[in-house]
Amino acid sequence: MEIRIIENTQNQECDVLIVNKFENENTISEIANKYAVEEDKFEGKLGETYILPTYGQEKHRKIIVIGFGKKEEFNPNKLREAIVKATKKAISIEAKTVAFKLEGVEFDYSEQFTFAVKIADYKFDKYKSEKKDKKIDLIYVEACEHIVRKAEKIADAMAFTRNLANEPAQFATPSELASIACDLGLETIIYSKDECEKMGMGAFLAVGRGSSEEPKFIHMKYTCENPKKRIALVGKGITFDSGGLDIKPASSMLTMKDDMSGAACVLGVMSIIKELAPQVEVHGIIAACENMPGCSAYKPGDILTAKNGKTIEVDNTDAEGRLTLADALCYASELKVDEVIDLATLTGACMVALGTQAAGIMGNDSELVKNLILTAENSGERFWELPLWEEYADSLKSDIADMKNTGSRWGGASTAGIFLKKFVKDIKWAHIDIAGVAFFENAHKELGKGASGAGVRTLLKYLLEQ
Ligand code: BES
Ligand code: MN
Ligand code: ZN
Repeated sequence: MEIRIIENTQNQECDVLIVNKFENENTISEIANKYAVEEDKFEGKLGETYILPTYGQEKHRKIIVIGFGKKEEFNPNKLREAIVKATKKAISIEAKTVAFKLEGVEFDYSEQFTFAVKIADYKFDKYKSEKKDKKIDLIYVEACEHIVRKAEKIADAMAFTRNLANEPAQFATPSELASIACDLGLETIIYSKDECEKMGMGAFLAVGRGSSEEPKFIHMKYTCENPKKRIALVGKGITFDSGGLDIKPASSMLTMKDDMSGAACVLGVMSIIKELAPQVEVHGIIAACENMPGCSAYKPGDILTAKNGKTIEVDNTDAEGRLTLADALCYASELKVDEVIDLATLTGACMVALGTQAAGIMGNDSELVKNLILTAENSGERFWELPLWEEYADSLKSDIADMKNTGSRWGGASTAGIFLKKFVKDIKWAHIDIAGVAFFENAHKELGKGASGAGVRTLLKYLLEQ
């Protein structure tokens, strides 16, 4: 799909012209006002569409009127939601060329518009033997060229992440993630199981022991001249989470190919980083393995030693993400970067707390957390801060080791967070729990079903803002 910037879209020859209508205003298109508004009482509620044939009277076969809702309530998120709907509508009537004429929007919509049409264009049909070739080839819009081009790259990274997280676990194995990382053209090191053992990553390796897939520890690095900051991005990379010996019930296991969504996000960010060229050094770190109950699997009661020497009693093999992250965070801390940001589909508890509306965020530096929340808001994502009080560590006390990997059921997202904190040393750190937002079982209003690319827009914008 190509997005072409032109000065006046209204007279552009195309299959479909899309015009907007606020609830309390008419649209600029006369024929839309005559038929949609006056005759058919189209109100223009947010996301509502009205299709108007032009019977060869205009330069376009059809007009789609898209409702923008109440003008005083309109904002970039609503714009994105409406544009996704309108674009999907145009796709459904097999439009190949579409022009947008947007009137009365009081902010620069270039970025969110681009995200929206690219999101509407996304589908994961790789494994369908019959592919529907309903795709828009060309979009005309009046917008700011350089913002559109940058947003296109961010949206491409998001699609990269979604493809990876939608990929079944049989293909998206730890080795596959490692090979994808190697193909990104960055400075990349892949540590094998033996090398991880030498580095003392006893927590990470324990999780992968029950699987026939080899664990891989991935470290990608992007740098530029005189970086303003050095940032490590750490992604949870459990390519399948069966729960291990504490096996999950079937219904909870269904979506667990998505347990590498944090890793997929980091790979998505790294996939476009050279082209976007932020003024920061960025390390992408993934401890990738599969959590399976094979005959060598780690067991409840086992004691593991993490890279920083801390000992962990395994209380539940299904709390595996924090074990892999423990070693990854130790590794990131040793890089002596300025900030560490991890993303993980870490707890069902976070999903219980925030639903599918927001990722939970916590950390040891309130400014970093605040900045990320703000950047998320400006990118079309939602992060919500959860507390990280030291008392959450009380229930992690072990009789025979430094700590257990699980504690009280209550406040599970914060308990997981405080566990991770023990492995971050003297560095600003934020932890983003994307369990509720990384993969939708029920269709999301914009993103539909499946992987969402959570975190990509926010992280890329955050890096570009430095
Ligand atoms: N990968 C899951 C968390 C998860 C749940 C992600 C639902 C996405 C949707 C994680 O490894 C897990 O199993 N967590 C357990 C922790 C518990 C054993 C303390 C959970 O949330 O039940
Ligand atoms: Mn688990
Ligand atoms: Zn998991």
